[in-house]
Amino acid sequence: MTGTTSSPTARIPLRTAVIVGSTREGRTGESIARWFAGRAAQDERLTVDLVDLARYDLPRRLPRRPTLPMRELTATIDRAEAFVLVTPEYNHGYPASLKQAIDVGCDEWFAKPVGFVAYGTGGHGTRAVEQLRLVFAALHVVTVPDVVSFDLADGTLHDGRPRDGERTDVAVRRMLRQLTWWAEALREAHAARPYVA
Ligand SMILES: Cc1cc2nc3c(=O)[nH]c(=O)nc-3n(C[C@H](O)[C@H](O)[C@H](O)COP(=O)(O)O)c2cc1C
Repeated sequence: MTGTTSSPTARIPLRTAVIVGSTREGRTGESIARWFAGRAAQDERLTVDLVDLARYDLPRRLPRRPTLPMRELTATIDRAEAFVLVTPEYNHGYPASLKQAIDVGCDEWFAKPVGFVAYGTGGHGTRAVEQLRLVFAALHVVTVPDVVSFDLADGTLHDGRPRDGERTDVAVRRMLRQLTWWAEALREAHAARPYVA
């Protein structure tokens, strides 16, 4: 079934945070995230904010009181209405940097949608994504089913940009369609009544 948008709030672009999940030195993730953020910014339903976890000096040990970078990251999560996590696969899971960033927030994540851009070497990063779905269930997050994924070993990416134009673009459009549907629906729901966990 196709739908038409009737809500006036649907015309205000959705504040979408594209999160660079890897903070590893020499990481590939930054260029993939920059490509994806540029591609997503072409979508007039979105305003895109690139959130690079490497820029936040998050403490190695969780302190009793949040540090300034923790508060800044939490505020960034709070402002966003939708997220796209750009995640590598590390040992069949997702990187610790991403878990740390997720754990910094709590109700700032609640009742918002998350999409994924995933990659690995030999794998496509999908095992990282499936683990993240479990984690986000604890945070009342809707994770969208379709994933934009890459295997770095097969040469599809060059300098973080896909070479296979149309195939990747179909995957991006599908994921963004699901993400924006949920983000618009949840924006309206949040406006109608507060989310009570
Ligand atoms: C600690 C570590 C574990 C990895 N484990 C996997 C893995 O299980 N599956 C996979 O497909 N690639 C794996 N890789 C390859 C990474 O996906 C690849 O190096 C990628 O570039 C990492 O993302 P990044 O460069 O943005 O940090 C691993 C890489 C590292 C550093």
